[in-house]
Amino acid sequence: MSKKQTTRRQALVFAAATGAIALLPGWARAEGATKVVVHKSPTCGCCGAWTARMREAGYAVEEIVEADIQAVKKRLGVPEKLASCHTAEIDGYIVEGHVPPQAVAQLLKERPNAIGLAAPGMPAGSPGMEGGEPEVYKLYLFDASGARPFGEWRGDKPV
Ligand code: CU
Ligand code: CU
Repeated sequence: MSKKQTTRRQALVFAAATGAIALLPGWARAEGATKVVVHKSPTCGCCGAWTARMREAGYAVEEIVEADIQAVKKRLGVPEKLASCHTAEIDGYIVEGHVPPQAVAQLLKERPNAIGLAAPGMPAGSPGMEGGEPEVYKLYLFDASGARPFGEWRGDKPV
């Protein structure tokens, strides 16, 4: 094969490969999605509901069922008074509880100096807690020195 032919063949192979990637469905491109590792309790249904919201928002979610979720929260630096049910690790941050996918996107875009972001307790109407009358709730950024507000939310949107 001449050098010219080889180059042309390589170009065709390259074009075929890139074309094929562009045509792949979303699930096959999951390695390009932001990874979420969710630590959840074996007995709590709303953790799974939040996980489903994150998957719908395009995150690649891995779930780990923990026998001792409180020990995990302690290890990951979640302040006791900001605790909820599940605890997630997302791109260098800890995300505690029913934080809306849109708030996670804001966190990863702004990248504030913090250990993580929490939705303390179980706010009615937050992602994974749908069903009742949605309440307004606050999110908090936290680090070793304390917590500061990160907006007020209702359902999955800022107020
Ligand atoms: Cu919950
Ligand atoms: Cu839960």
